Amino acid sequence: MAEVRRTVIELLGQLGSSREARQYLKQFSRIEETRFAVVKVGGAVMQDDLDELAAALAFLHRLGLTPIVLHGAGPQLDEAMQAAGVPVEKRDGLRVTTEEVMAVARPVIYRANMALVDALEARGVRARGILHGVFEASLADRERLGLVGQVERVELEPVRKAIQAGALPVVACLGESPSGQVMNINADIAARELVWSVKPHKVIFLTGTGGLLDGSGRVISAISLTTDYEHLLAQPWVHSGMRLKLEQIHDMLEKLPPDTSVSITSAANLTRELFTHTGAGTLIRRGERIDW
Ligand code: ARG
Repeated sequence: MAEVRRTVIELLGQLGSSREARQYLKQFSRIEETRFAVVKVGGAVMQDDLDELAAALAFLHRLGLTPIVLHGAGPQLDEAMQAAGVPVEKRDGLRVTTEEVMAVARPVIYRANMALVDALEARGVRARGILHGVFEASLADRERLGLVGQVERVELEPVRKAIQAGALPVVACLGESPSGQVMNINADIAARELVWSVKPHKVIFLTGTGGLLDGSGRVISAISLTTDYEHLLAQPWVHSGMRLKLEQIHDMLEKLPPDTSVSITSAANLTRELFTHTGAGTLIRRGERIDW
């Protein structure tokens, strides 16, 4: 209990004025409870910032907000494959998933999922690991990519059921064919499909860098796609990874209601990003220019 108190005090300490925080809390609480936020957590964050991540998610849950968490396990998988002597191969940015790779990947993904669920439950938050049953998939290209899944349909029932039961859903990036063949789904693609299906108020990407970085390595505070997108893509410092991310977010937001926003931040800055005007990370909107 003392620890829970400490966490709350610590997190509140990050916030600006309490009026600001209350305003956002009110705004987020008005949204239907299953549509508050989808939080995509990269595998690196799961590995390096698990404690901070669990603390930030637990804080939201204690405020009565239930984010839907989707996680990858890329670095964990790379490590396990190296240990098993299985070479890592990527094509078109996707992990070639032979049966041998899948044999290594499946338990690694399960373990990453359990680690987060355990960390949340250790903080007194009910959490439910959802390993299967969300992404119905077909083989994207068996010859070239092996067991890489292409999402055909998203089933939200397991996610909704978890939230209704008061548990925080923690979804893994695995898909299945209707007859149960397990497939590996790229985490960014899974996030996009989940977001399109949930239509959340906030889409949050938790990364190690805590936002998109400009030419001098500083976090860009806000991007309005209508006014800044072309200009940004023309910048020499927008390298391929960032370009890809921007393009993905652009496509994602295009199919969502205009008041949806994307925040890219870190586990440690999540609370500040959500509950202050200035935030701590990169806020991306489709609409009109917003103040930087
Ligand atoms: N708290 C608000 C939100 O989450 C605004 C965040 C602003 N963030 C920023 N990086 N400019 O929607």
